[in-house]
Amino acid sequence: MQDSHALAEKAAQVLAMNDRDGLYTVPGANLYPHQWLWDSCFIAIGLRHIDVERAKTEIMSLLRGQWSNGMMPNIIFNDDKHYATDRNAWRSWLSPYSPDHVVTSGITQPPMLAEAVVRIGEQLHATERREWYKSVLPALQAYHEWLYNDRDPHDEGLVLQIHPWEVGMDNTPAWMSYLHEHQLPGWIRFLVKTHLVGIVNFFRRDAKSVPLDERFDTVEILALFDIQRRLRRKAYDSSKIFNRSLFLIEDIAYNSIFIRANTQLKQIAEAINVPLPDSLLDRMKQSEEALNKLWDPETSQYYSRDFISHKLLKETSVATLLPLYAGCITQERAEELVKLIENDQMYGPAYPLPSVATSSRHFNPMRYWQGPTWMNINWMVIDGLRRYGFNDHASALTDLSLELVEKSGCAEYFDPITGEPLGTDNFSWTAALAIDLLHHTKK
Ligand code: GLC
Repeated sequence: MQDSHALAEKAAQVLAMNDRDGLYTVPGANLYPHQWLWDSCFIAIGLRHIDVERAKTEIMSLLRGQWSNGMMPNIIFNDDKHYATDRNAWRSWLSPYSPDHVVTSGITQPPMLAEAVVRIGEQLHATERREWYKSVLPALQAYHEWLYNDRDPHDEGLVLQIHPWEVGMDNTPAWMSYLHEHQLPGWIRFLVKTHLVGIVNFFRRDAKSVPLDERFDTVEILALFDIQRRLRRKAYDSSKIFNRSLFLIEDIAYNSIFIRANTQLKQIAEAINVPLPDSLLDRMKQSEEALNKLWDPETSQYYSRDFISHKLLKETSVATLLPLYAGCITQERAEELVKLIENDQMYGPAYPLPSVATSSRHFNPMRYWQGPTWMNINWMVIDGLRRYGFNDHASALTDLSLELVEKSGCAEYFDPITGEPLGTDNFSWTAALAIDLLHHTKK
């Protein structure tokens, strides 16, 4: 690291630039003009070092969007008239549970909320921390209870996701292979057959700011909008969605993050002496055991699972490392995962962690979640490595992550071979998590 002060300064400028009215931070001004759920959690984790009150506000702004059934939506839309099309694509008002004062999406995202709440808490004095925890616990508990009640219908300890956007790793291979096998609607197959897909590229909004070979494949993005439309038609009512949908996955990344969040939720409740219901505590325990069902002894990796057939979706992605972050796996399993990080054919190229193993047939160093390195994944894996005692690995990954930002700026994602910046620039979570990692290097 040449000049950590200059790097922190640059990252803070990105967050300031993406701040909206002191209330929330957009992920990136060009491509992402609204508030996103897990983005704001990562952003708050960085902001707490700059202005802890502002970090709290980031979280309270997220809670504006919570539905009355406990669901936390992945997007809260900017209410400017300019964005009417985005709001109208989701029409959250179709659901009786949606909030009155903001328009949101109808699906959720990885539950990083408890982590953000605890990290903010770490910056506060004991009395303030208790106040902070008291103010957010009911919403947080309602969110976790909704996840169990709504998304674990068979009471198995694993929660399911209904759209790749819920996982936040939008075009990760396991989901995309599943999509191609089961879900491509007739009208999209027609576009492919007649070579009309190219025309759609002209209308892609993301193409205006990012080269298309760094983004989603057009067929896949059309399919995702199609699924979204079908969810909207059912007014985001899970009972109706589960009956008809073929696209239900218990995602390994999502469930790992949820297990970590459960631990944080328990910590918050204990700190203010509020007992969580036994029913919730039992389900939390069950989840930790259920994660074993996603382990494949043949390849020594974790995978996501098809909710219906219970088959593992054996496409490797960096999500296989996130049980380190979950914290509930054995030391032996953790060691198996560390071997994958050390292997340069898997997750150990020059600028780790690639979102897909470099030897996978799906690996593409430039395409979104199919190869590039993302700062939020590195941050979670670093945290997990430390908790399992792999301090040298954690420090090496921290240094390489910061080197990437120093070399290529606060890009949305990075080429894991060359370290070149990819996606949109001035991306908020890259900036926020760089700030947080810089603080770790000082300790
Ligand atoms: C993309 C990412 C998702 C993120 C969103 C806003 O859709 O895949 O994880 O939350 O952009 O940054």
